[in-house]
Amino acid sequence: MRPNIPAAILATLAREHGTPLWCYDATVIRERIAQLKGFDVIRFAQKACSNLSILRLMREEGVQVDAVSLGEIERALLAGYSPKGEPAGVVLTCDLLDRATLQRAVELGIEVNVGSIDMLTQLGQASPGHRVWLRINPGFGHGHSQKTNTGGENSKHGIWHSQLHDAVAVIREYGLVLVGLHMHIGSGVDYSHLEEVCGAMVGAVRELGCDLEAISAGGGLSIPYRDGDPVVDIPRYAELWNQARRDIEGIVKHPVRLELEPGRFLVAESGCLLSEVRASKDVGNNHFILVDAGFNDLMRPSMYGSFHGMSLLDAAGNPSTAPQRPTVVAGPLCESGDVFTQHDGGLVAPRALPAAQVGDLLLIHDTGAYGASMSSNYNSRPLLPEVLVDGDDVRLIRRRQPLADLLALEQF
Ligand code: LLP
Repeated sequence: MRPNIPAAILATLAREHGTPLWCYDATVIRERIAQLKGFDVIRFAQKACSNLSILRLMREEGVQVDAVSLGEIERALLAGYSPKGEPAGVVLTCDLLDRATLQRAVELGIEVNVGSIDMLTQLGQASPGHRVWLRINPGFGHGHSQKTNTGGENSKHGIWHSQLHDAVAVIREYGLVLVGLHMHIGSGVDYSHLEEVCGAMVGAVRELGCDLEAISAGGGLSIPYRDGDPVVDIPRYAELWNQARRDIEGIVKHPVRLELEPGRFLVAESGCLLSEVRASKDVGNNHFILVDAGFNDLMRPSMYGSFHGMSLLDAAGNPSTAPQRPTVVAGPLCESGDVFTQHDGGLVAPRALPAAQVGDLLLIHDTGAYGASMSSNYNSRPLLPEVLVDGDDVRLIRRRQPLADLLALEQF
């Protein structure tokens, strides 16, 4: 069972902090970081899980960070990252620069990974000499869902590959400094296209003929959400990218840094969502259990039809030994799509789970990435507490949002 936190501890945490509750295992995060040591720089895509304590853990482990918004920049700074340095502690990768973010990026001198020529021009006008990356849309992309495919002509991301010369002209016009080229073709990628991606990066450097310090392979590394899902071959992945880096060094005639920008891979398997079974009912042929977490907490099944493993602890905190039965797991929201078992394209895809009693704990696994960070206050539900377990050190790293917070900004 992932994460490797003993069931008894999870049950105690649920009692202490109430449910629903996010729980992360620091050991799993450190293991994943260690697996990526074949890259010069690991840059955590904090959108996957942006809690300050997780960011601090990353920093302590020598991982740099990526930010996509003003809020994520401020999080990185609070976690102790510096925008300066080579490699920079923080890089801003966004699709557009809203005015407040542009101003802060200029003030901090933060490297910006640029996704359009307009963005590049705005940055050049506001801050001549700024350090920039160019995010390339190579004309193709892949992802676990159409919604996480970030390449090709249906994607809003990056500068279309045939317009890179125009981008370089803008760089020259404003005396901007090109730090590197970046390519992130999607999230939850299958690796059959890896050689094509590396080839596109080398081709872009050759065609542009300009100098650079670094390349970034983006993120996208998948994890096995289901038993039997392919496990990414990290050594092969690192070797192909290192070969691309060597080819590029041959072109620019000096060492080039290789960066990787994973989110999911580093944190997904460290996390689980603890919820309490509050009701069960038979609806025609379907057996439902209703838990106290909803899609406002964990959006992935409703948004992408994503599969997450589940397990059940009985009221005493022991893994349930009850006989299994096909079960639909749903939440409390006033929406029919508030169902956690809806993979295989169906709204309700019953799953074999031990027969549940009211009061049992349902664990939803592999929710460390794009779990808490995608939560919302829909149905006026507060954001959940988060706990980080690091061996014997168990810490509440975010309190449950008080209901008063939800109302504090509103006025009659
Ligand atoms: N770099 C860039 C520029 C990205 O846009 C992303 C993810 C990453 C890195 C990290 O990708 P990862 O290694 O985590 O796959 N909410 C979706 C995933 C959306 C990812 C958006 N960008 C999900 O729950 O699957």
